[in-house]
Amino acid sequence: MKKYGRLKEHKKDGNIIYISFEKGELEIQIITEQIIRVFSRLSEERPVSKAIEGDKVRKVAFAIGEDEKSVQIHLPKLTVQVFDEAKVDIYDKDGKPVCIDYRGERVSSQSLDQKMLELLEREGHSTQENADGHVIQVLKKLDGDECFYGLGDKTGFLNKRGYEYMNWNTDDPDPHVDSFRALYKSIPFFITLKKDTVFGLFFDNTFRTYFDMGKESDDYYWFGGDQGNLDYYFIGGDSMKDVVKGYAYLTGTAPLPQMWMLGYHQSRWGYQCEADIRKIAESMREHHLPCDVIHMDIDYMEKYKVFTVDETRFPDMKKLTEDLSDIGIRLVTIMDPGVKVEKGYEVYDTGVEKGYFALDEDGQIYENAVWPGDAVYPDFGKDEVRDWWGENHRMLMESGISGIWNDMNEPASFKGELPENVVFYDGGRKSTHAEMHNVYGHNMARATYQGLKKLTGKRPFVITRACYSGSQKYAIAWTGDNHSIWAHLQMAIPQLCNLGLSGIPYVGTDIGGFGSDVTKELMCRWIEVGCFSPFCRNHSAMGTRRQEPWTFDQEVLDIYRKYLKLRYELLPYLYDLCHVEEQEGLPLMRPLVMNYEKDEETKNLNGQFMVGDHIMVAPVTEQGMRQKLIYFPEGEWYDYWTGEKIQGGQYKIRHAELDECPIFVKAGGIIPKYPPRLSTSEEKDKVLILEVYPGKAEYVHYQDNGEDFHYQEGEYNLYRFSLDGNELSMELIHQGYEKMYETLVIRYQGEERVVKFEHDYMITLE
Ligand code: GLC
Repeated sequence: MKKYGRLKEHKKDGNIIYISFEKGELEIQIITEQIIRVFSRLSEERPVSKAIEGDKVRKVAFAIGEDEKSVQIHLPKLTVQVFDEAKVDIYDKDGKPVCIDYRGERVSSQSLDQKMLELLEREGHSTQENADGHVIQVLKKLDGDECFYGLGDKTGFLNKRGYEYMNWNTDDPDPHVDSFRALYKSIPFFITLKKDTVFGLFFDNTFRTYFDMGKESDDYYWFGGDQGNLDYYFIGGDSMKDVVKGYAYLTGTAPLPQMWMLGYHQSRWGYQCEADIRKIAESMREHHLPCDVIHMDIDYMEKYKVFTVDETRFPDMKKLTEDLSDIGIRLVTIMDPGVKVEKGYEVYDTGVEKGYFALDEDGQIYENAVWPGDAVYPDFGKDEVRDWWGENHRMLMESGISGIWNDMNEPASFKGELPENVVFYDGGRKSTHAEMHNVYGHNMARATYQGLKKLTGKRPFVITRACYSGSQKYAIAWTGDNHSIWAHLQMAIPQLCNLGLSGIPYVGTDIGGFGSDVTKELMCRWIEVGCFSPFCRNHSAMGTRRQEPWTFDQEVLDIYRKYLKLRYELLPYLYDLCHVEEQEGLPLMRPLVMNYEKDEETKNLNGQFMVGDHIMVAPVTEQGMRQKLIYFPEGEWYDYWTGEKIQGGQYKIRHAELDECPIFVKAGGIIPKYPPRLSTSEEKDKVLILEVYPGKAEYVHYQDNGEDFHYQEGEYNLYRFSLDGNELSMELIHQGYEKMYETLVIRYQGEERVVKFEHDYMITLE
């Protein structure tokens, strides 16, 4: 671990305070009133952040003071104090400690000698590398009541206290369990919540990084790594929402998706030919199942060669997309990064000729293997490679494909992991796999997003498996290869919630589970959760039990349809949340602790979640169970199905038959809905339904064409609905989208009222 020695002097240059020590230098950069960057250059390179784009610095007035022991930086809401050994403490404006560096040394929790390690390995137990001491290591004081959230897609529970993790994008098909240290995504950001303090820390380092959230000790938590720089951001705020917004401000919010992204997606690895795809689409319609998208896995390619279509099995892709579009269904195709080694294959030849692939240390093109066999890896860190990759999608876009699914972009490799010294570029700078691994998927998604945007002019639909902080600007994400096991349905809730808190709002699991065989009951319970996940796709592996909704029995089909129908009714509510997300960075699917952080009961609540501020979902996720113990936070709640009013601040048991997912609406909730439909492409701008729950409420509804970027020039409408007593008023606060609704349906206390939609008016509800 780097030693800094005694504090020597400091100087200020603009918003940066350079502080020197006997053996090093630290920079404190004031980004905003609540965001402070702590930086120390420990490597030769000072790479440009992959997560943060553009200038985020805002003008903040601050004063610097010093005494023998420390340098103090006084901001309007915070004070930063720097001591010997580059220790950094942050206090609030009343002098209360917020984020304090730990002054002691790490205590190693385990030291195993070679003999012990060998013994463990004999029975196949995994042994971790000795993580004692990293070059970069930040130890923070841990408080008794401290909880941790975020860290991307990591397994386990919502609260990460007591666990350790690693960021190294990993494709491991074994069932993901709590002891996994790494998964597909590297989001080195977490939120710490104490009784009356909340803040976030973002360690912007793309190398392999480590996070110990109080596993090793009750006195400190730490994060660190061995390469790159010490470069982290403190993100303060008055609430957890503030911190999430602060992180989104820094790394970007997710752009508004096309409306159909919110529709239902059906997928399976193994739809072998055009007839298979047509059959799925027809079955969807035959069974009156809402569906917008079918995903085409690697089967559509010729010998798994990217940017090819097997013409014997898919003779006319354009005709296929057109025919499906007639019934409101689109196609999304998978795209892996690995390019098959094959002379005469254009993508390979061009890449070789232009120097677009990663190289080994001798300057030869580096080869490993993925689905097509021997394969090479495009170097997405180079601008020209991203441009080329983006442009390669032209053929698919011209055939009417609506979006791209990026997979295997950790990158996955079947012949062992890529050595750390494989040469990848970071822009024009020569770099290594060690540095670029965790941003490989990020850069691939970026290439795809930019390519699709250029080619279509529409809001690109890109889904990615591997991510780094900030990937939300380019892609939505799914949680990779889960299994059809109850534990993975249970894990879906904290995992998706933590992804949302980590800046990645559009997320979903493979509904029904990817590996292993789903049961009828699990399938039902999974769609009851899945229909609320921002990205709603049923996907499964070849060779497993089929899990399209009609492959079970009538009961499953009816339950499945009930929840897809509900999702489609809720489209305007979900789309409003997308608008909020783009504006502020708040996720659609939220843990209760995000809305009720002062309430102790919410801190470890893994089995319930919020969809926005008004809807609370408390699904049954245990086999055989027909009851759910539900926690109701402060306020009053209404049972969505029965209308029963429930007082908050208590636990209650709700009976829930297999077809029942307990859902509750907060008093004063106004829920906009659309009439049921089978595809988002059905006329959406005619009727707006408002379900109004008694209370005092205000709700802003957003409407645009759901497709392109015209909304950025003001082509959208914003309506404000307010409920006061039984007076419901509507005000048009922005008018820019030509299609106004024609009819407004108001549902209130069991009554329904249909009125002509007008600009501004007041209605008295009975
Ligand atoms: C990976 C993906 C999975 C996909 C399969 C075949 O396992 O995670 O979703 O079906 O590859 O492409």
